[in-house]
Amino acid sequence: MYNYFKTVALCAALLLTAADAGAARRKPLKLSAANIDEIVAAMTHEEKANLIVGMSRSFSDAERADVGYTERIVAGAAGTTYPVERLGITPVVFADGPAGVRIDPRREGDEKTYFCTGVPIGTLLAASWNDELVADVGAVIGNEAKEYGVDVLLAPGLNIMRNPLCGRNFEYYSEDPLLAGKIAAAYVRGVQREGVGTSVKHYAVNNQEINRLGNDARLSERALREIYLRNFEIAVRESDPWTVMTSYNYVNGEYTSESRKLVTDILRGEWGYRGAVVTDWGGGLDAVKQVKAGNDMIQPGMNVQYETLLAALKDGSLTEPEIDRCVRRILELVLRTPRFSGYRYSDAPDLEAHAAVARDAAAEGMVLLKNDATLPLDCSARIALYGVGSYAFTAGGRGSGDVNKPYVVDLRDGLLRSGFTLNPAVDSLYVEWIRRENERLAPIRAVRPWYLYDLRPNEVREIDSAIERGAAESDVAVITISRTSAEAFDRHIERDYLLRSDETALIKSVSRAFRAAGKKVVVMLNICGVVEMASWQDMADAVMICWQPGQEGGNSVAAVLAGEVSPSGHLPMTIPVRYADVPAQNFPLNVPETGLNQSYEHYSTSVKYTDIPNIDYTNYEEDIYVGYRYYATAGVPVSYPFGFGLTYSEFELSDLKLERDGEKITASVQVRNVGKHPAKQVVQLYASAPEGTPDRPAVELKGYCKTALLRPSESCRVSIALRIGDLAIWQGGETGGWSVPAGEWKISVGTSSEDLPLSGTLTLQEPPGRTN
Ligand code: BGC
Repeated sequence: MYNYFKTVALCAALLLTAADAGAARRKPLKLSAANIDEIVAAMTHEEKANLIVGMSRSFSDAERADVGYTERIVAGAAGTTYPVERLGITPVVFADGPAGVRIDPRREGDEKTYFCTGVPIGTLLAASWNDELVADVGAVIGNEAKEYGVDVLLAPGLNIMRNPLCGRNFEYYSEDPLLAGKIAAAYVRGVQREGVGTSVKHYAVNNQEINRLGNDARLSERALREIYLRNFEIAVRESDPWTVMTSYNYVNGEYTSESRKLVTDILRGEWGYRGAVVTDWGGGLDAVKQVKAGNDMIQPGMNVQYETLLAALKDGSLTEPEIDRCVRRILELVLRTPRFSGYRYSDAPDLEAHAAVARDAAAEGMVLLKNDATLPLDCSARIALYGVGSYAFTAGGRGSGDVNKPYVVDLRDGLLRSGFTLNPAVDSLYVEWIRRENERLAPIRAVRPWYLYDLRPNEVREIDSAIERGAAESDVAVITISRTSAEAFDRHIERDYLLRSDETALIKSVSRAFRAAGKKVVVMLNICGVVEMASWQDMADAVMICWQPGQEGGNSVAAVLAGEVSPSGHLPMTIPVRYADVPAQNFPLNVPETGLNQSYEHYSTSVKYTDIPNIDYTNYEEDIYVGYRYYATAGVPVSYPFGFGLTYSEFELSDLKLERDGEKITASVQVRNVGKHPAKQVVQLYASAPEGTPDRPAVELKGYCKTALLRPSESCRVSIALRIGDLAIWQGGETGGWSVPAGEWKISVGTSSEDLPLSGTLTLQEPPGRTN
């Protein structure tokens, strides 16, 4: 009897297998959300290794691989994953970057152009303190990525501005982890609502460019947790980015992409991240370690990495489950992409509509630092426009944060379009000068690699008579000071952080002549990051930072100068009095301008050099005291504090209410426009740990809110919510944990880290811990 049943069962099984085989012949196995395990099981080792290692290395159509060149799919994109056609696994196309999609604007044998909108740099977006606006900018970039066939945007960059000289600060948001994390989360939400992914980068502690592939960032566990990971934690928890990009550097002796602690234990284990992790382009050395750490994708990919993975699978030093974990996460990413769902991209995003978003965003992130009854200007004002920057704006930075934008509106164009009159003598002198400077620079620019910082025109030499005429014939002087920077380089103190002598001389002469004639001087800072101000700002009646405002910059600045928009940006970093005041003094300095990429001069793939401080390793001696956490605690005076920004109006803050509901704290405050112009205000909330808590910063930003536009006399009530866990501090070194000191916390509210007119206390009885 038993045998009978066994035979029947066997026959049935054989029949079923035959039927399955028949079905399989008819319908080949193709990736779907329901069959990831089956797909993984069906993949060969070669296919798995291929999927992990980017396709730049071996596909014949990608042979021009220079930082992941994917000519045939989306020209100028940064890289792709390997497709496995037999299993329906489509490639994922990655493209930079933070200030707009970076792809080639022209293609061989194709008349069409593929320009992308150049939005303002990350620092300007953060200076808006406006999450919704940042999300809208993100949506513009996300839409262009989708319409040009890109699946994942390699942005946002949210590393902490530890030192004002970091060459990539322009891509980044803030010296404060809360602001950086919130702005990044808003950006990610915006991009991803268009159905394409993001890559929050560079995870983590990537705060200098010089020797970025070989530098070891050495810091305490507390600084790591409270400052350098906190921004990523907020972004990951609040926006669920499709991917996270590990950084180039080492952290405490280990490459980030090879660090199980960073990639698996903290990112996934503690923060619950479920997306995929990708290396920075060429980051890390050991492909096997990367896979074991949980770094799923290696971009742009080299044959040696592929071979290494295969060899490790063969000799057992890499196990099937280890590689499968990465493969599975890449497949989950593939499933989310527009390319997988067969999205037919148009190659024709609405660039005009997007330019309008870029223009409005730029205006909102400008920071008015000083205004001695000078701005806004009357539209009939005759302007004498000085400084080569006014005629050749820097719209953004260089390197992977650059964008091939269709045009840049200079300040001159913007002012003319807004109906201002420019002094003709000054204008024609500069226009002719710029023409000649551009001619001089054209051959050098033509052979200059895309990643090097831009060459700026020199200042006009014979300027005296133009200053005299300007002062006699115009109502006001506007002088633009411009800066440029790029990845792989850090900025210099001389001629960069400090104004150049010709720039200071220009401000001095213009100021003397205009003030003698009873006229005002405006200095516009078209910059990528902090410049020294204490030595020259008294010569200006108004100073505004317009940052690098993207392709519409001139129009945005003109709208603000004309008072159509009140500036409402606030500094996302401190402007110190002197560079010597910066707490993070361990930073590479005075590297000679050899024209070579400084990042690679003390780097080898076979040796880890450890001899040169700040090049081979950097000791983060300032610990958690980065930016205002240091200045405010040590009582060091600054030129402008973190969070500072004027508007054309005046605001009054009153009636702070602190309410607690379990874990949740809500602070609300009344904001009233008591001035004469419609404007927005940024309300900031800082916490100070109970007296006696050892080693705590005087204040720490814990929340912020930007009001809607308030008309004169109009008021509104704003609320800022936080959780008690947000007050936690890291205690007990590497194996320690988070805890919230009990006692009386001071909660202060105001409009900068130094202007906090309202405060209240919050009494915490016993440490409630911190919910992950
Ligand atoms: C940069 C990344 C960028 C990648 C791809 C790297 O050099 O550090 O930020 O996304 O290149 O272009």
